[in-house]
Amino acid sequence: MDFLPFTRPSIDEGTIQAVGEVLRSGWITSGPRVKEFEAALSERYGGRPVRVLNSATAALELALRLCGVGPGDEVITTPMSWVGTANAILEVGATPVFVDADRATRNIDLDRVESAVTKRTRAVIPVDLAGLPVDRDRLYDFAGRHALRVIEDAAQSMGANWKGREIGSFGDLVAISFQANKNLTTAEGGCLVMNTGEEARLLEKLRLQGITRFSDGGMDVDVRGGKFNLTDIAAVIGLHQLPKLDGFNARRRALAKHYFEHWNRDLGCELPPADFEQTNWHMFQPLLPLDRMTITRGDFIERMKAEGVGVGVHYPAMHLFALYRSLGFRKGQYPVAEEIGRSTVTLPLFPAMTNADVERVCAVSSKVLSPVLAP
Ligand SMILES: Cc1ncc(COP(=O)(O)O)c(C=O)c1O
Repeated sequence: MDFLPFTRPSIDEGTIQAVGEVLRSGWITSGPRVKEFEAALSERYGGRPVRVLNSATAALELALRLCGVGPGDEVITTPMSWVGTANAILEVGATPVFVDADRATRNIDLDRVESAVTKRTRAVIPVDLAGLPVDRDRLYDFAGRHALRVIEDAAQSMGANWKGREIGSFGDLVAISFQANKNLTTAEGGCLVMNTGEEARLLEKLRLQGITRFSDGGMDVDVRGGKFNLTDIAAVIGLHQLPKLDGFNARRRALAKHYFEHWNRDLGCELPPADFEQTNWHMFQPLLPLDRMTITRGDFIERMKAEGVGVGVHYPAMHLFALYRSLGFRKGQYPVAEEIGRSTVTLPLFPAMTNADVERVCAVSSKVLSPVLAP
């Protein structure tokens, strides 16, 4: 039987042909396809300004710069995310302040955010882990009461919604990723959804060396920018993915539901939050019953692979990485995130999977786990 990876992008022949056309056109870096992709995204998000970038990490970093966040400022976020979230805070010279995850949603614990606010707090970066939206009502109520900017790390939640409103179509700044594993991909890439044309103009400068071009061919640089532009090769992939996003997400939801129907509950795993309305099901992540297992998570992953099923880990709690420990973070500080980080596994979930694939993953998980569970 073929090896089943934990994810695989859905790229059709039309997309491959369109990439060929860009390559043959003679204009392969940022150009007309980028503009078209930005217009399509903006239309999706109710006319809000959107600019594409070469990653969501860049979107987070530049969003912080748009908000004027820098040295001496604090930014609240969760330790249960891809490390890019907090690295962006460090990159602008600010200080990440972690708030533990909530056990039920695995997202930032909104019951605890208040106690993390100080005089130096400028912004909060909530993360929609696995595409499950953070409670936007409570989040914006909290941010409003403390006059904080919100930079939504929606890297994983493209196409998800909060009470029927699509993530990205409302709120403050929203960073989305198009990295290869995401529900919509451009191989690598991302975008930032903003509020005003003024923010978008500044972002255009920040993503390309701070340059403003004039019609006479001249230019000026009045702000220190970087090199974060997306290529037309990537943008044309996005243009072909976008009309398919809702279909991809519907398929992911159906597959996730199928997991819930076929998963062996006797294994004692904790299944992800069973939300089939709002989540885009970016990942399917049970927590392993480590206390009852006579093998490690690493052994579990190896045994699953030997049975032809790919398993990922997203993510270890990031405050325990050496860099963050060197900044003073310690084990035991965020116990919920640590427990999730220790026990989480990402099982295969991508639109091209069949229901039979899901049943196979359930059966293989049962075969691997059942014999190693202490009574
Ligand atoms: C939650 C989260 N934030 C940020 C990022 C960074 O996205 P990118 O790889 O596009 O820089 C990712 C990517 O995996 C992510 O999952």
